[in-house]
Amino acid sequence: MDLDTALASVESQLHTSVASDTSLLSEASRHMFAAGGKRLRPRLLLLAYSAAGGPELGQAVPLATAIEIIHTASLIHDDINDHSELRRGRPTINARWGTTVALLTGDFLFTKAYQLMAPYSSQVNAALAEACVALVEGETLQVETAKAGSLDRETYFRIISKKTASLFAAAARLGALQAGAAADTVAALATYGYNVGLAFQIVDDVLDVIGDPAALGKPVGADLVQGKFGLPALTTPTAMRETVAALAEHLVNNGTIEEALRQAHKFAGRAATALDLLPPSSARSALIALARSAVERDH
Ligand code: IPE
Ligand code: IPE
Ligand code: MG
Ligand code: MG
Repeated sequence: MDLDTALASVESQLHTSVASDTSLLSEASRHMFAAGGKRLRPRLLLLAYSAAGGPELGQAVPLATAIEIIHTASLIHDDINDHSELRRGRPTINARWGTTVALLTGDFLFTKAYQLMAPYSSQVNAALAEACVALVEGETLQVETAKAGSLDRETYFRIISKKTASLFAAAARLGALQAGAAADTVAALATYGYNVGLAFQIVDDVLDVIGDPAALGKPVGADLVQGKFGLPALTTPTAMRETVAALAEHLVNNGTIEEALRQAHKFAGRAATALDLLPPSSARSALIALARSAVERDH
């Protein structure tokens, strides 16, 4: 099975795995899947499986589906927390069906992912569970920090490492584990995923300041006005945080955005370097390209 076929298979599994006699749950879940999304985590997992020498991509498809389901669940809950009304160019579940249905759809999806994981090894299950715990810890830490109005650089990196990089690291680790890779290969791929995740979230935070909402399919400035500052806004005077446009201009002019992007490039570079340990392959090249595209993107 090639990558495109495996990704197509993930798409159909996303659809079928949320079947339920409580049709509202299927409908709300499919509303999110049908809206698109980049499917970066399943792609990363499948490429990691191949780069680690996995013989049959089909064996990693349910894992790739599970990681996308968890990501989707986290977005649904994140949109409740962030009071977001638009996701992937569509109304969020909380906007369309209300907070309670959004909460339950997220719960449903987290649980569905574990149903898909059941046939896999305890090692694979433990790695994904660890990432889910970290994700929730990261989101919680962010809320706490936003309430307190205090965010320093160290806390910012703790937050993004937990809420985003953990799941990217898990995607790569799961692929490698399922391929039966040696411990050093698993560790190299996990390091790769972790650094891609850091780079990816820094760019997401940059796009929250300077991105185009039409390309992103989600509003910009939302995190800023709620006190959930990303790396680009850490050093901004409180008064300037009030208006997004003024803030964006300030951050572009004083070079903060450029500096944040430099940081993102640094992490993408570290991700690529971690792959030096692996033998050359088309999957390894695709992972290196993916690390770069996590930074050089407009959505
Ligand atoms: C959004 O993730 C949440 C972050 C971790 C920044 P993506 O940008 O991968 O969202 P989709 O899946 O493409 O919509
Ligand atoms: C990432 O943070 C959310 C999760 C890891 C669940 P954001 O709050 O920045 O994500 P977006 O911008 O809403 O996609
Ligand atoms: Mg959000
Ligand atoms: Mg964001």
